[in-house]
This record gives sequence, structure tokens and C-alpha cells, in this order.
Amino acid sequence: MHKTSETFFPFRYCYERNLAVNPQGGNTGLVGGSVPVFDEIILSTVLMNRIISFDKVSGILVCQAGCVLEKLNEYLEEQGFIMPLDLGAKGSCHIGGNVATNAGGLRLLRYGSLRGTVLGLEVVLGDGSALDCLASLRKDNTGYDLKQLFIGSEGTLGVVTAVSILCPQKPKAVNLAFLGCQSFAKVLETFTTCRAMLGEILSAYEFMDEKCMELVERHLKLSSPVTGSPFYVLIETSGSNSTHDEEKLNNFLERAMTSGLVTDGTVATDDKKIKALWSLRERITEALTHDGCVYKYDISLPVGKLYDLVTDTRARLGRSAKNVVGYGHLGDGNLHLNITAESYSHSLLDAIEPFVYEWTARYNGSISAEHGLGFKKKQFIQYSKASEAVFLMQRFKAMLDPKGILNPYKTLPSGS
Ligand code: FAD
Ligand code: MLT
Ligand code: ZN
Repeated sequence: MHKTSETFFPFRYCYERNLAVNPQGGNTGLVGGSVPVFDEIILSTVLMNRIISFDKVSGILVCQAGCVLEKLNEYLEEQGFIMPLDLGAKGSCHIGGNVATNAGGLRLLRYGSLRGTVLGLEVVLGDGSALDCLASLRKDNTGYDLKQLFIGSEGTLGVVTAVSILCPQKPKAVNLAFLGCQSFAKVLETFTTCRAMLGEILSAYEFMDEKCMELVERHLKLSSPVTGSPFYVLIETSGSNSTHDEEKLNNFLERAMTSGLVTDGTVATDDKKIKALWSLRERITEALTHDGCVYKYDISLPVGKLYDLVTDTRARLGRSAKNVVGYGHLGDGNLHLNITAESYSHSLLDAIEPFVYEWTARYNGSISAEHGLGFKKKQFIQYSKASEAVFLMQRFKAMLDPKGILNPYKTLPSGS
């Protein structure tokens, strides 16, 4: 078997000299996990960008951790497959970083989480030893599933050096509908209707509010063919028969329009229009950075409560915030609440936190749905995890990284 970790000397060098390291992939993380806090050495996987194998029968890809997500997808598309995850940062993020953050993204609704699609990992542990769990098997119930410990551990338990991942067939027919809704209640009802009517071909259900659209138009000069609604949804279908899929989508659209769930909309089947419509959603993050200082929150909630947090935050902050916006992966119950201001203000931060975390905990939500805790959110873990669970996490950390040199100051709260 190929052993990437045997060539991973830099880490061993650091381990032997008690030097703290900060694993870094594409550096697109949103919670400060990939940047050193003090004098940690950045351990970049950028040169570990080799595809090791791809099996066309099983759809299993094995590659080094530094492969860029978009490059992997392009490679797979040539063979009639795709990566099971997709995100706005695909042009820069690495598969190792995706695994380390357990990235969710735009296709989770259809293909599930990396906890299901990652079949094996090769990891260098905090004590300098290499762990070979690079299996390429769909089923393997021999003992504990150790790879799960490293998925989402944000580089605090080990450095992922190679990944084995199950990839779906490239869909033969993709359709996109971009629709306007008059209320969040209608966004929800549209979701239940499209789930019932589109069934197995539904591959994404994303939403954004009108403020997001304003920012994308103002700062990025993108123009939307659908305007004048307080909410927008993006529905993607992926299937194997365009006639069948289009018929299903048209039936759903007719129902949604006649019953007043949706007031305006457009449909795309060709690549160029599909990409342009996806940009309106994928580039919200970028548009926000042009709006000023951004306070970012990535929250899981029962889907019915999702937008109440935006409304309540907006009411609470009033004119002290420039914009309070909500968008995200509605189909996964994942809200991205973002607040912008002209510049950083401690008093604004005090008005947002812990309000947002307390609100989330009240509804049994998660204060980090998909971005992780990194440096920015680690002190708030207790809003989503019991103290016994945090204690057990600390014991795992001590066992796997006895010198505490692996991404210190990240994920777990300090001083406990
Ligand atoms: P980095 O940012 O380099 O690192 C992230 C964390 O992983 C750090 O803690 C780092 O130490 C650790 N790490 C990196 N590589 C390794 C490794 N090989 N071994 C061990 N630890 C490692 N996230 C989502 O979940 N869903 C989205 O839809 C999404 N969309 C985004 C859109 C934009 C425009 C941007 C800028 C970000 C988005 N993100 C999203 C966040 C980010 O892209 C993901 O968290 C991504 O998985 C990070 O990958 P990376 O290679 O850039 O990792
Ligand atoms: C997204 O879904 O666009 C990303 O998670 C990035 C963000 O939250 O800004
Ligand atoms: Zn997201």
C-alpha cells in the first residue's frame, strides 16, 4: 500500500524538537483554525497533491491530502464521476482540509456528510507515529472506526496525509430553479413540497434573503433574473434522464406557482446559466467581505426556527449593525447568520455574543454546523456539548497528542 506519511518528515522534525505545528490546507477556513496564534510552524499540505488511485467500478478515489477539491472534481468528471462534496471555496480548499473540518457544503443534502463518504484516512499523529486506516471498503466493522476521530478534528489530533473517498456518478441531467418567495414560511412550504414532488432527484435546496441579494448585486455587480422578493431559493435536481427530470421539475413549479408558494422564478438547464445562478448563492461570502467588518455565525437549528434567529438579531442590534443577513443550506437545517458593520466594535460584539449562542442553545441547535470551532469559537463549545463530552475530547487529545504540539489553542476551550 502507498504510504504518504513515510515521506512526511517535516512533522517528525517538529515533534522531535517540541515545536508546535499548525496544519494548513487551502487556508479557506472561516474560524481561524488554519492560522497560527503565536509561534506555531505552518505545516502546509500544498505539495501533497497527487491522486493515488481511482477505481471506476466502485467509484473510490484515493488521493493525497493537498489535492484541491475542484481539481479532484475535474479529474473525476473526465471519468464520469464527481466529488460527493462541493463548496464555494472549491478552487482553493484541499481535501485534507475538508476532512479536517468535516465540511458540509452544497451537496450534503444529496450525498450526505463526509462521515459517510470518507472510507479511509492516513494520518500522522501528535506523537509522530503514522496511522494507516486508508481502507477502500464500503463495509468494515472490525473494531472502532478510528477515522471518525480525525474527521472534523481541525488538525488537533493528527495531520491527514491521504484520503479514500466514495464518489458518486456524474449526473447526466442537472436542472436549477431560482425562485422568489414572499415569506420564510413559504420558503419552508416550498421545501416540503419540492421534497415530496422531486424525491430522489433533489440535490440542493439553498436559501438567501433579499439583503444577501442586495450585497451580491452591489459589491460584485452580479445581476439576478429574479428580483423583488424578500427570500430566494435555489433548487437543484440531478438525475439520469433529462425528460423525466424536467417533467418532474415543471410539475413542481406549476404547483408552487399556482398555490402562491413562489411568486417569480427562472429555470436553467445549460451549464453557463447554471453557473451564473449558483454564483448568486456561492459568492455571498465574498460580497460580505466587501461590506465591512463581518461577524460570522454558522448555526444548526430545527428548520422551522431557522430564520427567527436572523429576525431577532436584527431587532436586537437595530442601527448598530450595518446589515444582518441570513442564507444557507436550508435542506440541512443550517443557517449562516452574518452581521456587518463599518468597522470592528467591541460593544457590537458584546451585543451579539453570547446572545446568538444562548438563542441557539435554547432550541437545542449547534453553534457550529459545518465550519468547526477553530480559534474563534472554541470558548463557546459548552453551548452545544455537555461538559462530560468536552472532558472526554480533552482525554483523546492528551492521548493522541501527548506533547500538545498539534494545532494548540484550537477547537477545545483553553484553561479547562
Ligand atoms: P484550512 O482552512 O487550511 O484548514 C482548516 C482546518 O483544518 C484548520 O484547523 C487546519 O489546521 C486543519 N487542516 C487543514 N488541512 C489539514 C490536514 N491535512 N490534516 C489535519 N488538519 C488539517 N465550509 C463548509 O463546510 N461548507 C461550505 O459551504 C463552505 N463554503 C465556503 C465558501 C467560501 C467562499 C469560503 C471562503 C469558505 C467556505 N467554507 C465552507 C469553509 C472552508 O472552505 C472549509 O472549512 C474547508 O473545508 C477548509 O479547507 P482548507 O483546505 O481551506 O482548510
Ligand atoms: C456558505 O455556505 O456559503 C459557506 O459556508 C460560507 C459562509 O458561511 O459564508
Ligand atoms: Zn455553508
